[in-house]
Amino acid sequence: MSKLHIVGIGPGSIEYLTFKARKVVESSDILIGSKRALELFDDVNNEKIELGAGNMGEIFKLAVYKACQGNSVTLLSTGDPGFSGVLKPILKLANNIDVEVVPGISSVQICAAKLQISWDDANIITMHGKGISNEIISMLSNGKPTIVLPNKTVDELANFLLENGIDPARNIDVCEKLSYPDERILKTTLKDVVNKKFNYMCVLVIY
Ligand SMILES: C[S@@+](CC[C@H](N)C(=O)[O-])C[C@H]1O[C@@H](n2cnc3c(N)ncnc32)[C@H](O)[C@@H]1O
Repeated sequence: MSKLHIVGIGPGSIEYLTFKARKVVESSDILIGSKRALELFDDVNNEKIELGAGNMGEIFKLAVYKACQGNSVTLLSTGDPGFSGVLKPILKLANNIDVEVVPGISSVQICAAKLQISWDDANIITMHGKGISNEIISMLSNGKPTIVLPNKTVDELANFLLENGIDPARNIDVCEKLSYPDERILKTTLKDVVNKKFNYMCVLVIY
């Protein structure tokens, strides 16, 4: 049976890439991923296909098709494939092929590590690609820190929370570009993140 590997590459820096990820990539004929994911494997000589926001559906179908044809295909997912990653859409398409998942360090894990939060004591929610969910409002009153992947921008989420009665003085940490040389962790309040500009690579922790 044909096999498609879905490999987590971690938050971005090569230091957080696993040996297993590297080994699977090196043994693949075709490597598919976002620009920042492919850049980690510039020295590996396989066919590379870039995945972008506008071509995801089409490229996922191509990955499955190429694997069905007998090619060894690896699809790279930033962070971990099973958290707001490529695992879910691929499982919907990959009926006739064997899928193997190689886990990666999620942006949630590196965020929790940097802030020394035990994530078994935290609420974890992703809005990435789904839109803002009301579920976060009740979470914010259970006394635990809430780790959030926002949908689009940080200020879109901050405005939503303020409009839904969350205290503007609530503490919030904005963790931007984790693991990259220009990583930034800003400790601030909900009202102070409104109208500030951040990179799309952000994890928030609301206390
Ligand atoms: C498509 S989701 C992928 C999540 C990924 N599967 C994970 O486990 O981290 C992309 C979102 O993850 C978060 N993210 C990914 N890498 C990040 C990083 N290095 N620093 C901060 N946030 C990051 C951002 O919220 C970004 O918009």
